Amino acid sequence: MFETLKKAPVDKIFALLGEYRADDRPQKLDLGIGVYKDATGNTPVMRAVTKAEKRIFDAQTTKSYVGVSGNRGFCDTIVDLVFADRIEGDRITSVQAPGGTGSLWVIMQLLKRAKPGATVWISDPSWPNHYPMLELAGLNPQYYPYFDPETRSVKFDEMLAALDKMGPNDIVLLHACCHNPTGANLTPEQWDQVAQSMKRTGAFPFLDLAYLGFGDGLEADAYGVRKMAQTCPELMVAFSASKNFGLYRERTGVVIGVAANKDSANIVFSQLANVIRASFSQSPDHGAEIVRVIMDDPELRAQWEDELKEMRDQVLTLRKNLAGSLRKLSNSDEFDFVEQHRGMFSLLGLSKDAVEKLKKQHGIYLIDDSRANIAGIPEHDTDKLAAAILDVGK
Ligand code: LMR
Repeated sequence: MFETLKKAPVDKIFALLGEYRADDRPQKLDLGIGVYKDATGNTPVMRAVTKAEKRIFDAQTTKSYVGVSGNRGFCDTIVDLVFADRIEGDRITSVQAPGGTGSLWVIMQLLKRAKPGATVWISDPSWPNHYPMLELAGLNPQYYPYFDPETRSVKFDEMLAALDKMGPNDIVLLHACCHNPTGANLTPEQWDQVAQSMKRTGAFPFLDLAYLGFGDGLEADAYGVRKMAQTCPELMVAFSASKNFGLYRERTGVVIGVAANKDSANIVFSQLANVIRASFSQSPDHGAEIVRVIMDDPELRAQWEDELKEMRDQVLTLRKNLAGSLRKLSNSDEFDFVEQHRGMFSLLGLSKDAVEKLKKQHGIYLIDDSRANIAGIPEHDTDKLAAAILDVGK
């Protein structure tokens, strides 16, 4: 059996994490995988999460099955968080899925049933797992223009021109906020134009919403997904609670479908449930129940929002400080984009060679495309990091 197999490629994000963990230099710095780190370099359990976990521990009387579509209270509260009554409730359907990746996967299975072999357009560049997931799902991944390496911002005219040429058989995967890996995002006015274009062409919007609240805030970050749902008749959203609730390993996500009407939404729900039952039966409940408990209790919810704001503010401060250190040490404004970008990441624009030198000579780990996890920079290390970046050159 196994003689027919070749060694599979490793995922570069997790491969780098393995290399980092095996590195015994004390001054090493992991800016690879997208996790938030506090001033001590730890990825903390949020205080609201710990409180909710205690409540669950004290109150839970069974570990019996929840059901194929998952924890309903959790799904409903996330739908409220994302759309906040901006679109008619009976157009919306939702199921729980294992994390953002699990949610993307379930959606891909649904899209394959709806349009076998369809082309799914992803941004150039995109999260490195989008392409292999789409291939594995039997869909056809293609890139649309997105990031301009010269200006370190979105090349919007080219993106829009590509979208304008699409049709009802095309599916477009959009990062709803906090673009991964670039950190460059659409403005509200650009979202308006994307929504109008996709309404006109009939191309299908597929939104990856993994960082809600990590960019400019819960409301501001929801602008794109709300605008798309208000403008286009149908779409799918993959929501992740990994970063904004710090629940990474608990694999906590929601698939949200928006359909033209209630009957269509019911059909979508039945298909999603059918995909889940045939794939993994149902999702793990613990993370979902934590989120439900937090969101149902005004005090815990307020605490969670405060903690999320703390993390967001910390990332914004780190962006400002790193850009400032780079400006000061290089005597130029060429890295000012770091301050303008939003979300966990920025694509720094270093060559693979420079990234390798950062790792070998300075123990600083970046993804090979020079994606830096800004949320992983220790508070007082921006000068040191800036000096290392300038030392290895581009
Ligand atoms: C990342 O991009 O680093 C995160 O989304 C973690 C992952 O699963 O890749």
